[in-house]
Amino acid sequence: MTASLGAIHEDNRLLQAKYNITAWFYDILDYPWERQYRHWRSVLLKDVRGEVLEAGVGSGRNLRHYPSDVNLIGIDICLEMITRAMKRGKAALCNIDLRQEDATIMQSIPSNHFDWLVSTFLCCVMPDHLQPLAINQFERVLKPGGRFRLLEMVYSKNSRLRRRQELLTGFIEKVYGARFDRNTLSHLERSEKLQITDAYFIKKDVYLVIEGQRKD
Ligand SMILES: C[S@@+](CC[C@H](N)C(=O)[O-])C[C@H]1O[C@@H](n2cnc3c(N)ncnc32)[C@H](O)[C@@H]1O
Repeated sequence: MTASLGAIHEDNRLLQAKYNITAWFYDILDYPWERQYRHWRSVLLKDVRGEVLEAGVGSGRNLRHYPSDVNLIGIDICLEMITRAMKRGKAALCNIDLRQEDATIMQSIPSNHFDWLVSTFLCCVMPDHLQPLAINQFERVLKPGGRFRLLEMVYSKNSRLRRRQELLTGFIEKVYGARFDRNTLSHLERSEKLQITDAYFIKKDVYLVIEGQRKD
């Protein structure tokens, strides 16, 4: 496994600094949620094959769920998170190359190369004004016909559930930089090169999976 340094968009410096601190507590803080996420991770990754890019790899929670015939590059803006992912990656079945890269730039990532682009809980962290830049990179790095699958969280339409989410908003934004009101689906719908093939909730109307492919 390798770790290399890439360029970071200036508007991501604050988020990067936040995660350099959050990384120390991330797995403990996330544990109550991770108990359910881990079941979804294996479901979401079981059909992923070939050359795969995971954007926002975090502490590497997805790594052990990739099938053995995957060649994975995992990127994250935060080196402290990558350090944790490297440890977790030792239990993985597939080849892994972890890099410090900003998903809005992807300096070292080749074009037209990937069969799959995966990210879980990246775009709910990424400011809306940067998401079109990341989507441009998704378009660039996927092969024609290459597929993507994102897992994000959004506000529920159920008023009781939404009130509970609103109570958590301050905490999750302070600690994770995450928000429930990012417009990832709309940004993807505006892409001329990516086609959404499915968007469904994996739990309640909160945990949203968005799937699609790069047009030829
Ligand atoms: C909420 S964590 C999710 C981590 C992991 N994907 C998971 O499912 O547990 C979000 C991760 O995205 C990373 N991140 C945020 N913005 C990024 C960007 N522009 N490029 C790459 N990584 C980014 C953060 O450093 C953090 O590790």
